[in-house]
Amino acid sequence: MKLSVIGTGYLGATHAAAMAEIGHDVVGIDVDPAKVASLNAGVVPFHEPGLPELLTAMLGTGRLRFTTDLAQAADCEVHFLCVGTPQRKGELAADLTYVDAAVTGLLPHLAVGSLVAGKSTVPVGTAARLAALVEARGADLAWNPEFLREGKAVADTLHPDRIVLGVTSERAEKVLRDVYAPMVAEGSPVVVTDLPTAELVKVSANSFLATKISFINAISEVCEVVGADVTMVAEAIGHDVRIGHAFLGAGLGFGGGCLPKDIRAFMARAGELGADQALTFLKEVDAINVRRRARTVDLAREMCGGSLAGMRVGVLGAAFKPDSDDIRDSPALDVALGVQQAGAAVRVYDPHAMANARTAFPTLAYADSAVEACRDADVVLHLTEWREFREMDPAALGEVVRQRNVVDARNALDRERWTAEGWTHRALGRRSI
Ligand code: UDX
Repeated sequence: MKLSVIGTGYLGATHAAAMAEIGHDVVGIDVDPAKVASLNAGVVPFHEPGLPELLTAMLGTGRLRFTTDLAQAADCEVHFLCVGTPQRKGELAADLTYVDAAVTGLLPHLAVGSLVAGKSTVPVGTAARLAALVEARGADLAWNPEFLREGKAVADTLHPDRIVLGVTSERAEKVLRDVYAPMVAEGSPVVVTDLPTAELVKVSANSFLATKISFINAISEVCEVVGADVTMVAEAIGHDVRIGHAFLGAGLGFGGGCLPKDIRAFMARAGELGADQALTFLKEVDAINVRRRARTVDLAREMCGGSLAGMRVGVLGAAFKPDSDDIRDSPALDVALGVQQAGAAVRVYDPHAMANARTAFPTLAYADSAVEACRDADVVLHLTEWREFREMDPAALGEVVRQRNVVDARNALDRERWTAEGWTHRALGRRSI
């Protein structure tokens, strides 16, 4: 089938390459000429494991190309909307500028009988509004949310654990079933819904995940007061299959381009709909999450004898999570700024997010390696659990620091090993050994 993918960020670039991989003829469209040129040259403009290889292979087949020209979507049967819906500045609500611009731009090129399938995360009710515009051109609109995780985007897109089709006609359902036929044949379950239900599935899933993380981080706060160990609580409760171990990783909490802004936009939308009471708990989820950042700064301060003024702090991690260079709402950078504000000299290192971090936070100091970030440090903060950091040799790092103090804000370092090498190890939700 001939498909267009509008918006080629983390979601769209991966979706376009994955659609080509399962045999479709795909044109990826973006307003940014630099991004388009880069993708056409086989260079992914962000860090996503496996995507460069898939992109290069698909460009080689001739089934995938990128352009800035929306007119080139005119002969496509399906148009996937993959543009961003960031948080509006100074507000909780989502900014729909890019979604609206994509649809408005597409309308003159829409063939009668074609299908527009929204993948972006939008406030419930958006699809119905867009459907009216699309239907006026004799085309159809569906909502088909995407659940990919950064760092695992290729696998998540090629082997989705569910395919949600929010449709208003049997024809739209059939077209999308044809698009995803290889995944359906492989066993991915298909859930067919109406438009608002499909929109709600996405924000409900992300709200649940955020709630699970904040739940264990709330328990973490109590553990800190009573001297209990949150990692053991998580392990023990996770054995209950009704609870499960996933997303019970206590620590610095969630960041990124999705969970924080999605729960905020969901609350804002519920308020507009008069259902704000239903989601007041999400305000607490957000507050618990943000408190972990302040707690990490406090731990650093405690380890430096009560004041960070004049101290040197080595910061390991800038990305919001490992295997991504995304620094949107990154807990790691928030903590780095907090520690700097408290008077410390901070040096940050991240294996893949340095360029993004430097651009967004030019006032922070950066180092070219973990060792350089930690040289002469009074305390080392482990804030993003990259494999490189988890596998670091605490004995070697101990040689370059001023004091062997480490805060493991992701509960991911081998505490026994670090302690054996003479480090004072502090973590969130765990007492020291
Ligand atoms: C999320 C959803 O998982 C995905 O389904 C949706 O499509 C987009 O939003 P993503 O933002 O890529 O994906 O990252 P995710 O792996 O969910 O992690 C989000 C944040 O939660 C990260 O900052 C991570 O460090 C944190 N996290 C995750 C925890 O603090 N503890 C955990 O146990 C798991």
